[in-house]
Amino acid sequence: MEHVSSTPVVGHLAAAPAWAMLAYLVSGVLFILALRGLSSPESSRAGNRFGMIGMLIAVITTIVTHSLANIAEIGIAIAIGGAIGYIVAQRIAMTAMPQLVAAFHSLVGLAAVLVGVAAYLNPEAFGILDTTGQIFKGSRIELGLGVAIGAITFSGSVIAFLKLNGNMSGAPILLPGRHILNLGVLAGILVLVAIFGRETPELFWAILILSFAIGFLLIIPIGGADMPVVVSMLNSYSGWAAAAMGFTLQNTAMIITGALVGSSGAILSYIMCKAMNRSFISVIAGGFGAEASAGPAAKTDRPWKRGSADDAAFILKNAEKVIIVPGYGMAVSQAQHTLREMGDVLKKEGVEVKYAIHPVAGRMPGHMNVLLAEANVPYDEVFELEDINSEFAQADVAFVIGANDVTNPAAQTDKSSPIYGMPVLEVWKAKTVLFVKRSMGGVGYAGVDNDVFYMDNTMMLLGDAKKMTDEIVKGLAH
Ligand code: TAP
Repeated sequence: MEHVSSTPVVGHLAAAPAWAMLAYLVSGVLFILALRGLSSPESSRAGNRFGMIGMLIAVITTIVTHSLANIAEIGIAIAIGGAIGYIVAQRIAMTAMPQLVAAFHSLVGLAAVLVGVAAYLNPEAFGILDTTGQIFKGSRIELGLGVAIGAITFSGSVIAFLKLNGNMSGAPILLPGRHILNLGVLAGILVLVAIFGRETPELFWAILILSFAIGFLLIIPIGGADMPVVVSMLNSYSGWAAAAMGFTLQNTAMIITGALVGSSGAILSYIMCKAMNRSFISVIAGGFGAEASAGPAAKTDRPWKRGSADDAAFILKNAEKVIIVPGYGMAVSQAQHTLREMGDVLKKEGVEVKYAIHPVAGRMPGHMNVLLAEANVPYDEVFELEDINSEFAQADVAFVIGANDVTNPAAQTDKSSPIYGMPVLEVWKAKTVLFVKRSMGGVGYAGVDNDVFYMDNTMMLLGDAKKMTDEIVKGLAH
């Protein structure tokens, strides 16, 4: 890729024309507005639009300000990539979103690696050579860090994808001495980044190989229950890889976008660590949450009560206050529309209805909020964990639909539980707990039994979430 003749490359810091800098700035502002918009379901559509316009401006500006080797090839690549993205986005099930996100992160990492390799093999074209024919020192560091972070993002995301997609066991795989090994490899990568040059291509390839290896080593010890944090952490890594490459390509829009993705991903990881009571530092070090063993559910013969949809309808109708707790099972069965209908009927009967959202309910951040918004549940009926947890004690019914881990009291009481320490929705404090799931044998993501099933005030409603809710709505009509 060569810079246009109107802005000749003058050493490392060749600047783009002023209008292009302004266009990149505008797209940067639009990306910030996109993030702002995405912070609430009400403004998220506008946020997405800002992001799309920002990206369009950035792509057009880059194409216009660079004399491209072959515009037709670029057009074909954009068309193929765009078509694949469109088809995948149309077809993907909401429940498979985390693995899709992991797969996309791996592509960002791979793109950063490919750009870095291209720049290393052909530094003249990138304008990163000094007068002695060496790559500028600053560019070397950017390049080395860019390919390293890109390669870590790539291999880490591939492992995250395989674990989330069920192609690989979600259980942590622990290598002996892994912390020392990881630290050693990371230190090795940093030393190589500091010393590699044009005359030492073997060091450059060693950076790549070690980085691919460390991405693998960092993610492999992480257990399934901690995967949400991993996905957002890899999101952050992919941003930093893009930002480093933005420096190499001297592309302001890429630096801004990469930094935005990197920092927002890091903030999200931090918020999720807090939500799951994990330490941020141990997340970055890898292998966190590995001490707990996510074994299969304890098979117990404890007594439990089963109820029918009509029983549930009767209890709900006679309640004054109902708190609905949706989880992954609601997403699987797409019960959100019927659930909203049930809430509407109850409200007409004079029952107070609220929805309680756990930050990691479902399989991606905001999963439940998105589904409830799609079903037009009013935003003012939806509450986050910290705002509603104290209300379960005053509720007549906690209606748990397809949620499990996020309601498990073992998180507060059982130190050996893989979810110990995670804040949970205290549904058991309600007068009655109606628990919708398909079978007593089925477990949640963390693979553990839940004491709430066997409590005196719990009635199990066994069946598919949508079907059961449908029947309850019919029962309410009687
Ligand atoms: P889970 O603990 O995974 O429980 C899901 C429950 O839904 C299970 O009890 C399952 O029991 C039931 N279920 C499944 N399909 C159903 C259907 N068609 N109808 C009715 N019930 C159905 O869900 P949760 O409480 O939402 O917790 C989320 C878990 O996922 C946490 O451990 C979290 O750490 C993890 N995780 C979260 C994320 C993010 S970011 N949210 C990402 C990855 C992992 P049956 O099989 O018996 O029906």
